[in-house]
Amino acid sequence: MTTSTLTSQITSPHADIEETIAPHGGTLVDRFATPNQTMELRERAPELTHITLNARETADLDLIAVGAMSPLTGFMNQADYERTVHEMRLADGTLWSLPITLSAPKETAQGLKQGQDVVLVDHTGRHLAILTVDEVYEYDKQVEAQNVFGTTEEAHPGVASMYSQHDMLIGGSVTVIERENLEPELRPYREDPAQTRAAFAERHWRTIVGFQTRNPVHRAHEYIQKSALEIVDGLLLHPLVGETKPDDIPADVRMKCYEALLEGYYPEDRVHLSVLPAAMRYAGPREAVFHALVRKNYGCTHFIVGRDHAGVGNYYGTYDAQDLLRSLPPEDLGITPLYFEHSFYCKRCEGMASMKTCPCGPEHRVFLSGTQVRDMLARGEVPPMEFTRPEVAKILIEAARN
Ligand code: ADX
Repeated sequence: MTTSTLTSQITSPHADIEETIAPHGGTLVDRFATPNQTMELRERAPELTHITLNARETADLDLIAVGAMSPLTGFMNQADYERTVHEMRLADGTLWSLPITLSAPKETAQGLKQGQDVVLVDHTGRHLAILTVDEVYEYDKQVEAQNVFGTTEEAHPGVASMYSQHDMLIGGSVTVIERENLEPELRPYREDPAQTRAAFAERHWRTIVGFQTRNPVHRAHEYIQKSALEIVDGLLLHPLVGETKPDDIPADVRMKCYEALLEGYYPEDRVHLSVLPAAMRYAGPREAVFHALVRKNYGCTHFIVGRDHAGVGNYYGTYDAQDLLRSLPPEDLGITPLYFEHSFYCKRCEGMASMKTCPCGPEHRVFLSGTQVRDMLARGEVPPMEFTRPEVAKILIEAARN
């Protein structure tokens, strides 16, 4: 390989908008009402049947509207739902790994007719969107749990959340009249796929790696992000800030950690920090596929998948998510996963490493479990700098105190 071909693979100063990656299914969906429609729909909404969304559905609605879930234009009808659950495909064959559903109580759902408009409201009663009913159908929660989460146990937080849904599902396209509310600390970081795509183009990034995370940033995260940055133009740090389980660290605290870290340890012109307002499902491999497809819609060309991606407890093997992604036809996925082995600090190597690069025994490696770290922080103890940057530890201790 000549020097010039090597250089062009590493940096791409002449990227333009035409060269950005296509959204999943080919078109970036936009399901917002026009200003005129909004006025008309707001007037009609009070007379329509109301359906109250839970936190996951509220977040999904917004993600559909902005195109983050392209090609979906609404909540799934039965054909898309069944094929997604059983085959990880939409009815038309497009790769899709998680059901995106709207549930309603039987008494409400059974009274609905095809073509009827209903208003979708959040838990405070705000009118968010109009859904035109396509279908109302029954579903088997145990079958969904086994296929999507790999378990029917209620101890699994994603399964428990799905079991708590109403008993019928409503499929239909949506027209959004009001955005989901985000906490004030997160609002400056909300960017829709069209905005991140424009930001990447403006920075002349042609290859962009997306990073999904629901935990406070630690040295292993930093290591795999920077390893990826060695081979692409830019990094989209994209913490998930929708509903997570109660013992996960709140999103506003995690964002403060990122702000502190970016200030001291990352080149400003190579990193873009934004949020993904999606709910966490903890569906391991299936959710890794979903996370990758969504980041493709935000304009990423690559996506980081490390150890036990989107996992919880011992439900999934360390590399199950990587194995599932590897088994999919690359052209169906359309975004390139970058796989990383379990990473850690090795005292003997004197640096971050992984099973792939470190020959030393476990006695040299700094491993801390989530529980160990939580206990240390609660005691006001700073975790070792091999595990977390001191600036980040300070924020976490402060948050644990409060
Ligand atoms: S997740 O639920 O969003 O996957 P987390 O925020 O902990 O949880 O992980 C974010 C990403 O970093 C995932 O791709 C995960 O696989 C990866 N990751 C986390 N810790 C490590 C580690 N020690 N080594 C390698 N990859 C890791």
